[in-house]
Amino acid sequence: MSKEIKRIAVFTSGGDAPGMNAAVRAIVRNAFNNDLHIYGIMRGYEGMIDGNIKRLETTDVSNIIHRGGTVLKTARSQRFMTPEGRKQAYENLVDNDIDALIAIGGNGTFTGAMHFMKEFPDIPVVGIPGTIDNDLYGTDFTVGFDTAVNTAVQAVDKIRDTADSHNRLFFVEVMGRHSGFIALHTAIAGGAGGVMIPEEDSSIEDVVKLLKRSAKRSKLFSIVIVAEGNHMGTVYDIAKLVEGKIDFYDDIKVSVIGHLQRGGSPSSFDRVLASILGFNSVEALLNGKSGVMVGIRNNNVAYTPFAEAINKNKVVNKELLRMAHILAQ
Ligand code: F6P
Repeated sequence: MSKEIKRIAVFTSGGDAPGMNAAVRAIVRNAFNNDLHIYGIMRGYEGMIDGNIKRLETTDVSNIIHRGGTVLKTARSQRFMTPEGRKQAYENLVDNDIDALIAIGGNGTFTGAMHFMKEFPDIPVVGIPGTIDNDLYGTDFTVGFDTAVNTAVQAVDKIRDTADSHNRLFFVEVMGRHSGFIALHTAIAGGAGGVMIPEEDSSIEDVVKLLKRSAKRSKLFSIVIVAEGNHMGTVYDIAKLVEGKIDFYDDIKVSVIGHLQRGGSPSSFDRVLASILGFNSVEALLNGKSGVMVGIRNNNVAYTPFAEAINKNKVVNKELLRMAHILAQ
């Protein structure tokens, strides 16, 4: 039988994502609703190793639902990748009488949690998918993805003004690590003239063909969205490769949106998603769940083992991709 849970600690880890604060708020509020003590671990696994653990009151999470970043701070911890680091973290949790953990993050966060649980199975861990990349299997959306896409689309709208004015071709690089979800959604919502994602084996010739087709229809400028993980190289390499193959634009420019996509106030979608997942992560622990990510599938809360969430391939919707290519012309 699993032990009674009275004290839960929450932390955010890996790349920050808009909506992490909304998740923390929901966790704290639902913990209070269940008469639990709730603790915040600062800077993810780093704070766990350093013993940077503080009691959270319900008022500590007032006025944070609309804030980007994470009030608990975050880090990519090298030390937690070592058994010594994890042992130190465990000892600090025991010293603070922590019964269970809620981890908000992505691939690296859940990988760390799996190692930890194997070595210290007496502390259950539940995860919340918090990453702009949307690359976790078992949830239709991760917290932060919607906001990141909205930010990228706003940037593309602005680039469109200058691209149109100068009759230029722009290659715009967006984040996403090894996945193309941000690029695909940005391309569709931003009305892009093309999209290049890691999930598709397209070539420079394909891109050139597409641009030539739209140029024939008197389109004098274009914007191609490039996922950072695409197979054809950096956005600069791609621009160079295309340069000699087309002559119907006045110039070719490159824009890398970069970390802008990670910041800013979370969208209402991300706030609602984070609230649902945060709320349900507390319920999950109280119902004896451990080693699972709380996600959302077809509008229902779904639980996926960490190993599946990080190792199973979350596929890009091929129909959406086909549509994006057709609408780009
Ligand atoms: O995982 C989120 C993400 O923003 C990726 O899209 C990107 O590849 C990476 O993090 C950048 O990480 P860092 O901020 O550590 O450079």
